[in-house]
Amino acid sequence: MNSKDLLERRMRIVPQGVGVFNTATVQRAHGATIVDVEGNELIDLVGGIGVTNAGHCPPPVVKAIQDQAEKFLHTSFNVVTYEPYIALCEKLAELLPHGEPGTTDTTKVMLVSTGAEAVENAIKIARQSTKRQAVLCYTGAFHGRSMMGMTLTSKVDYKLNCGPFAPEVYRLPFPNYYRYGDGMTMEIFAQHELKRLRESGRNVVSPETIAAIIIEVVQGEGGFNVAPQSYLEGLRDFCDEHGIILIFDEIQSGFGRTGKWGSYEHFGVLPDISTWAKSLGSGMPIGAVIGRAEVMDAAAPGTIGGTYIGNPVSCAAALATLEYMHEIDINRLGNHVGDIVRASFLRMQRKHDCIGDVRGLGAMIALEFVHEGDPRRPDASTCQQLVTACSERNVLLISAGTHKNVIRVLSPLVIEDELLLKAMTIIDEELDRIVNATPSPSRTTGESI
Ligand SMILES: Cc1ncc(COP(=O)(O)O)c(C=O)c1O
Repeated sequence: MNSKDLLERRMRIVPQGVGVFNTATVQRAHGATIVDVEGNELIDLVGGIGVTNAGHCPPPVVKAIQDQAEKFLHTSFNVVTYEPYIALCEKLAELLPHGEPGTTDTTKVMLVSTGAEAVENAIKIARQSTKRQAVLCYTGAFHGRSMMGMTLTSKVDYKLNCGPFAPEVYRLPFPNYYRYGDGMTMEIFAQHELKRLRESGRNVVSPETIAAIIIEVVQGEGGFNVAPQSYLEGLRDFCDEHGIILIFDEIQSGFGRTGKWGSYEHFGVLPDISTWAKSLGSGMPIGAVIGRAEVMDAAAPGTIGGTYIGNPVSCAAALATLEYMHEIDINRLGNHVGDIVRASFLRMQRKHDCIGDVRGLGAMIALEFVHEGDPRRPDASTCQQLVTACSERNVLLISAGTHKNVIRVLSPLVIEDELLLKAMTIIDEELDRIVNATPSPSRTTGESI
């Protein structure tokens, strides 16, 4: 078997709607390395789309999976209670408390299998808790591919001809400072966007009918856009004023990716509910909804759940992942990887005016391509050429952003410095080559948005 044959078989049997971001194959993976079916070693800067913060196949996680698999694979948590589910909920509540510090307001947790499922359940809980229906979300958002997840997701390409979508979902522009800052200071921009939020109560949807506002503190698929500090503070106040549940979607940004367990911890703003998945299970399907006990308990028995929620093997994998993350100090690694990537990207930006922005938190660092340094003229072509060129040199990368003009790094955080620096050198060399090979007029075209 070789990669070409495998990809041809894929094309014949798997529908094209299941997207292919890269033509790489895998026979095994460890740390930050993927070995393809021909035996080539690929440097993985994608981490299964942000799932392997603790690396591919961390030995204690593999062992925990094996041990649990020998005991029982599935009994359904709705039917038979098992300890790994409870232990994982306890651990998550301890790591990420949502109650008011110093009060009896405690934290409760439900486990699910995927990110989309976490989002679905978070909305159902918020609606039951407020007895309201409307949900406010943002442009650039990605919340999954289930019907509610897709409705909340912004990018049209992800939902083409998939409607009708869920009703009572309203959208505001994400406070994207790089694209829409227009020379304002961050603070003035944030106040401007908060004014828009308040006005939305008159011209978009009445806040008295809103059950929840859902936001990614650092947008993932949207291109690693970080919400401004005072916007998040104002959003919290707005929710408190109107009895709205504030949901932070931490599915891509959680578990060390930004140098903290959750990206919201950078801002000192607490959500009522948060959603988690991806790196929690090191690849085993597991997600979580964490929330204030009073809100979480508002969901009536039987209205949330599912056959596979908190599968015992996935719970064992998640518990071992969290323990391993503590052991290797995942948050320190997140900051360390982020420092290396940011410094490399900034060096590239100094050489090329097609790199409009280098941004992010911790290791959630992105590089945005635009024409002639103009934030409103996205350059998808350079970005896509770079992804392809790096792939040919065995560095796996994926793009992000509504306009596919952002390179994002989601490498395992256990990546060795030497491997990461090698990947950065390859990106740098390939970008030099692409920029030098492209006549500048064709790089300066491109529509303004
Ligand atoms: C922020 C965010 N929310 C939700 C999801 C959906 O998660 P899943 O693909 O596990 O359903 C994703 C996946 O990329 C995500 O990045």
